[in-house]
Amino acid sequence: MLNWSKLPKPLIALAPMAGYTDSAFRQLVKSLAPTTIVFSEFVSSDALHYKSQKTKSMLAFSKKEQPFIAQIFGKKPAHFAEAARVVESLGAAGVDLNMGCPARKVVNSLHGSALLKNPKLASEIVEACAKAVKIPVSVKTRLGISDSRNLLDFAKMVEGSGAKLLTIHGRTAKQMYLGEADFAPIYEVKKILKIPVIGNGDIDSADKFLAKIGNLDGLMIGRAAVTNPWIFREIENQLSGRNSRTPKTLQAKLSTILRHAKLMVRAKGEQRGMLEMRKFLANYVKGEAGAKKLRAKLVLIETLAELEKILKTK
Ligand SMILES: Cc1cc2nc3c(=O)[nH]c(=O)nc-3n(C[C@H](O)[C@H](O)[C@H](O)COP(=O)(O)O)c2cc1C
Repeated sequence: MLNWSKLPKPLIALAPMAGYTDSAFRQLVKSLAPTTIVFSEFVSSDALHYKSQKTKSMLAFSKKEQPFIAQIFGKKPAHFAEAARVVESLGAAGVDLNMGCPARKVVNSLHGSALLKNPKLASEIVEACAKAVKIPVSVKTRLGISDSRNLLDFAKMVEGSGAKLLTIHGRTAKQMYLGEADFAPIYEVKKILKIPVIGNGDIDSADKFLAKIGNLDGLMIGRAAVTNPWIFREIENQLSGRNSRTPKTLQAKLSTILRHAKLMVRAKGEQRGMLEMRKFLANYVKGEAGAKKLRAKLVLIETLAELEKILKTK
């Protein structure tokens, strides 16, 4: 059974990212840096409650991803609890509750970061999940709706309701992704909680990881991972005093990119897999000489063989 408090620190985590952190990408990250804790894309607790097979299939994972954490979102405690049971029955090591998504579609329906405005409901949700499953329940949130004045109370509520880990993105919901992530309020939360606290926001290098870790139990990385999944290995290496081996040229990145594409095809079939691979490919060639031309070809790619040919003859 996963015990967040007993894992070696600092924790390095891959952030949940809808449309990106599917099983193929998570496996890729684990193959580069095995100590990374991986989170799924968020999945609707309502859909899991109503037994949507399509939603359930979004939670497919490989044993290699363990300890795998599945993230769910919603607003009804009973649906969250049922969804947490589904997550547990699938063999995930933990279930994470989304209380931070600022997308208007999500917030207007009172999901995601809207729960920051409603700590009573948020508490009921955490309690319902903690009662429903044996695997640890965790929460991911933001600093607040428009400032961090209620953050300490919210954090204490999360812990008191039974969560075993809290992750905080250092922005408010209003900020969306604007400005710079502020870690100062997260360090304050860590001082008053017993459960581990992970910080999140704008970590894009091993140096930044070391600069921001402060008193925290770990840091979570989102957007930077999509262009540079090697960042996790870079951090692992830096923490253990080894030299970093992040590849700089497309040639050096080739074997990893092809491994990603193969994992994608294995998980989703060639047609859908390569379609979904296009956005990753466009990111992987960012900054390359001739990137524009290369990207134009890669965003039309349909088969693995085509990809190999384009990258190898580049
Ligand atoms: C495309 C995209 C999808 C995201 N999807 C989720 C999600 O499903 N659940 C969640 O809690 N956060 C989600 N986030 C937020 C990230 O987990 C993370 O908190 C945020 O990107 C800040 O970290 P970063 O600066 O390292 O990217 C998403 C972010 C992006 C860019």
